[in-house]
Amino acid sequence: MPTARKARMKRKQTQKAWKKRQKLRQLFELDRKKIKCAQIFCENKKWIAPSADNRNLATVESIHRIKFFTLIRALRKRFKNRRIEVLDEGAENSSFARKLQKKVEKEFGPNSIRVIRTDIRKRGVPTSNLVNTPSERLVETFGKNRFHLVVSSFTGLNYTKVNSVKALANAIEVLRSGGEARICSNVIKDSDIKTIEKNFRNVYIVRNEFRIVIFKR
Ligand SMILES: C[S@@+](CC[C@H](N)C(=O)[O-])C[C@H]1O[C@@H](n2cnc3c(N)ncnc32)[C@H](O)[C@@H]1O
Repeated sequence: MPTARKARMKRKQTQKAWKKRQKLRQLFELDRKKIKCAQIFCENKKWIAPSADNRNLATVESIHRIKFFTLIRALRKRFKNRRIEVLDEGAENSSFARKLQKKVEKEFGPNSIRVIRTDIRKRGVPTSNLVNTPSERLVETFGKNRFHLVVSSFTGLNYTKVNSVKALANAIEVLRSGGEARICSNVIKDSDIKTIEKNFRNVYIVRNEFRIVIFKR
């Protein structure tokens, strides 16, 4: 086949795949309503001991079964000592982000890491460094290829009744290639993972019970 025709076909295929991935994230009127409901629900919910440090670096590490400091060290190597951008999505009152940042900066210096926290709630969460956005709108908020690491510990994927694929597709798209997403959720179906694998050829997914690790090539 002539090279020009081949290139045209390849371009068409890439565009088609891009459109399909965009459709996966698309929010319909019903999804928007569900997100609004989740926000109201979360803002009114009395979480267990909301002011207590019930989620911190150690507890988040134990649910994900990984030492995040070690992971950041590996990411720094992978990305040639560049500043590592971390997204802690659905962060609530967790001190995970703050403690991880402190530990990494102590070892590698200021500006070695930046952690951004998000949550669907406007009220009831500490607002410093917090971006008010749902898991299903991460690309809209941050753009694509922004973070080296996305951490999601029982957040929108558990509480919002929108199809999990939309939140997973967002987590993947905000990741840089070479980055990874560490997700804990017990509502993601195997069929959701299959849909993601079918549409994102550049990801490798490992699942262990409620822990899902997504590597982006
Ligand atoms: C159980 S807390 C988990 C908090 C934190 N990740 C941790 O490890 O402690 C759930 C948080 O997810 C937030 N949340 C619920 N639905 C969300 C959504 N669709 N997008 C973003 N955050 C959401 C809630 O507001 C709440 O703060």
